[in-house]
Amino acid sequence: MKTTISQVSNYEGQTVTIGAWLANKRSSGKIAFLQLRDGTGFIQGVVVKSEVSEEDFQLAKNMTQETSVYITGTIVEDKRSPFGYEMQVQSIDLIHEAVDFPITPKEHGTEFLMDHRHLWLRSKRQHAVMKIRNEIIRATYQFFNDDGYVKIDPPILTGSSAEGTTELFHTKYFDEEAYLSQSGQLYMEAAAMAFGKVFSFGPTFRAEKSKTRRHLIEFWMIEPEMAFVDHEESLEIQEQYVSFIVQAVLENCKLELDILERDTTKLEAIKAPFPRISYDDAIVLLKEKGFTDIEWGEDFGAPHETAIAESFDKPVFITNYPKDIKAFYMKPDPNRNDVVLCADLIAPEGYGEIIGGSQRIDDLELMKERYEEHNLTGEAYKWYLELRQYGSVPHSGFGLGLERTVAWLSGVEHVRETIPFPRLLNRLYP
Ligand code: 4AD
Ligand code: MG
Repeated sequence: MKTTISQVSNYEGQTVTIGAWLANKRSSGKIAFLQLRDGTGFIQGVVVKSEVSEEDFQLAKNMTQETSVYITGTIVEDKRSPFGYEMQVQSIDLIHEAVDFPITPKEHGTEFLMDHRHLWLRSKRQHAVMKIRNEIIRATYQFFNDDGYVKIDPPILTGSSAEGTTELFHTKYFDEEAYLSQSGQLYMEAAAMAFGKVFSFGPTFRAEKSKTRRHLIEFWMIEPEMAFVDHEESLEIQEQYVSFIVQAVLENCKLELDILERDTTKLEAIKAPFPRISYDDAIVLLKEKGFTDIEWGEDFGAPHETAIAESFDKPVFITNYPKDIKAFYMKPDPNRNDVVLCADLIAPEGYGEIIGGSQRIDDLELMKERYEEHNLTGEAYKWYLELRQYGSVPHSGFGLGLERTVAWLSGVEHVRETIPFPRLLNRLYP
């Protein structure tokens, strides 16, 4: 019976065959312990000299890392193994011998690992991070589908910019100028007017010259957009959504969190509601914490966000930023024209901003004013204005950065480990 490591619990006491790679190995005179992986999990294969052919025992003893095999044996319970089972090997068929696999169980430098990302992905740690990423994606679809949202796919090639023109990737669209999408938001607003509650999940691109542990050039965003939902209601959706994915990861990725040695007590506390602090109060808090230089009207950098987050044990919403440091589409606070109805959600433990969101301007005349101020004269923005012309309604939305969320939940330091093939300032390879 051919099966996978993830399924072995169904075959206790039975003989099965698994296609696998050798991750690591220990052997002595009469016994070899093979650490096997097949992509679905890890299992130890125990090869006893007296119980296999001499040829198979020599194969096991001399097997090199990442050699691929079909391996057959009996599945037995193993309480010491984190996976619960091991295989008592009966026979081994060599598929392909790997010679000099570059990533050995010893330590390697970051650049070396990044150059070998296509192989590094096979490691237990990277496997765990990608499984957590996968669980967040799965839980995202569940959360929004269960609540009646429609998944909408905005275009990647666009003629308009949602988040300012300085960080755009330019490309040619036959004879026209086009960009890679920075955010699907403007299209999601059109979709919300057609379907009420919508969400997108897709790649976004920022030609940001930032070389930090939180910035990727290509990253994936989840962007919900809701008609008839105001800023305050949007914050409630955000805290429910983030709580849901955190609890899903805790529930379904126990093994992965264990491999990554993630302190889960900090994650268990992540349940709605989340604290809110206004930008004004955040400035006061920062001054109290020794950031004496920061002035009202300036944007926060990573050290500011980290300092604010340290005052809370849950993610914190920083709300109502000055209008001049935020995007053109954000609705002004009706009580105060200098701030907008927006919030950034800052993750605990120094992982930074994971969500940016706002209520959008729904008034045609005000949007026209913003167009003037931001010089949005091109044809490319005409359609967006028309959304305010035909039955305009209050609406809000937000974007959650997947990689920063994966970094936070996995407890990995740098976003480069949270996407299969990271695109960084100086890296397009592999
Ligand atoms: O705050 P941002 O720029 O918001 C928007 O793009 C809105 N249009 C979203 C919306 O309202 N529909 O980006 C949203 C999130 C950030 O909070 C952050 O988590 C992530 O996207 N993000 C990045 N992640 C990795 N690398 C980068 N360079 C990122 N830039 C933003
Ligand atoms: Mg932002």
